[in-house]
Amino acid sequence: MREVAVIGIGMTEFGELWQKSFRELVAEAGVKAILDAGIEGEDIDAMYIGGMSTGRFIGQEHVGSLALEVAGLEDLHIPATRVEAACASGGVAMHQGYIAVASGMYDIVVVGGAEKMTDVVGGEATNILASAADREWESFFGATFPGLYALMARYHMHHHGTTQEQLAMVAVKNHHNGSLNPKAQFRREISVEDVLNSPIVAEPLHLLDCSPITDGAAAAILAPVDIARKYTDKIIKIKASVQACDTLSFHSRSRFDSLPAAVHAAKKAYEMAGVKPSDIDVAEVHDCFTIAEIIAIEDLGFVEKGKGGKATEEGLTALDGQIPVNTSGGLKAKGHPVGATGVAQINEIVMQLRGEADKRQVKGATIGLTHNVGGSGGTAVVHILEAI
Ligand code: COA
Repeated sequence: MREVAVIGIGMTEFGELWQKSFRELVAEAGVKAILDAGIEGEDIDAMYIGGMSTGRFIGQEHVGSLALEVAGLEDLHIPATRVEAACASGGVAMHQGYIAVASGMYDIVVVGGAEKMTDVVGGEATNILASAADREWESFFGATFPGLYALMARYHMHHHGTTQEQLAMVAVKNHHNGSLNPKAQFRREISVEDVLNSPIVAEPLHLLDCSPITDGAAAAILAPVDIARKYTDKIIKIKASVQACDTLSFHSRSRFDSLPAAVHAAKKAYEMAGVKPSDIDVAEVHDCFTIAEIIAIEDLGFVEKGKGGKATEEGLTALDGQIPVNTSGGLKAKGHPVGATGVAQINEIVMQLRGEADKRQVKGATIGLTHNVGGSGGTAVVHILEAI
């Protein structure tokens, strides 16, 4: 297998983007990444685009061909493939792009992700998202993602003593980081009291424990490391790219305070990269709800199982902590356009490893990790990147 690098990144602002169409978002992120990499359109061999439910959010399927057209590359007739794995669509698109380059099949690959979620009303968005749970055994009976993650929160609180305040501290931290990110949907600070006083969505999760409904797109350009040097000296090597899967339904899992697919993906990624959790300088994890970040930092081995709430309270994951987590603001504050999220996480880690994260820069960061989850843990993707 060849060594693979990220040589370019680009993303749109995230938020409620009434003024921009889906195709404009795809074009903006893609063009920014192409310019950042310093490649020409003719250099591109293939495209993989993450999109969770474009058909139901905006009535648009066949997103691969659309992306090729908006990039103006139709005359090249290169393969452009849409990838779907719920909220992990972007992470799986990255994994597919990595495999394509590592295998020697393609040299320059564009990986993208996009979703336009705010064109439907809130209840419909919840219903569309719930199609990534088990429709027959979960969502048909009324389960929603806030509801499923609320079950995880209750279980974690009961078995490990995690408190509502500790959950809220995840949101407070991520809103602080988001306030430093010009592309974030929410750039305002919040307090623990704000979280606890916000409306209940699915007890014990309040509105401010949830990631929002978001429009946005992100892209990254991959190339073999030896070819990458032709284009840039800012080479970020992908040391590991691992996808793991589990049951679709949450109730069929072996445990409820962990996502076994994420544990499996992380273990294999550490092996592939030859690093330990303590070697990671900065991480972007899938905080679709505050409990999800607490479970993620445990599943990734940053802290022991059950200690994620306490670690958050003690500032371990803060910008100036031992292992800064979600420096971008995470899904919570940066926003969560589901198909784009996995690629947006890569954008943040690449910025951190290049030293370009401005006010949210983690000093001396050389190894970073992304953790992207689909649904309640049916799919998990972990990438480990290093500045070389
Ligand atoms: N965090 C912070 N603020 C939020 C927010 C969030 N998650 N969601 C909405 N807001 C703000 C809005 O900006 C708005 O503020 P304003 O009054 O100052 O304009 C206000 O809260 C009300 O917004 P609205 O759009 O009416 O909220 P809603 O009640 O329709 O939706 C949620 C709130 C939490 C239900 C919705 O964001 C949601 O479903 N989130 C979860 C998404 C999800 O499940 N993703 C998949 C994960 S697996």
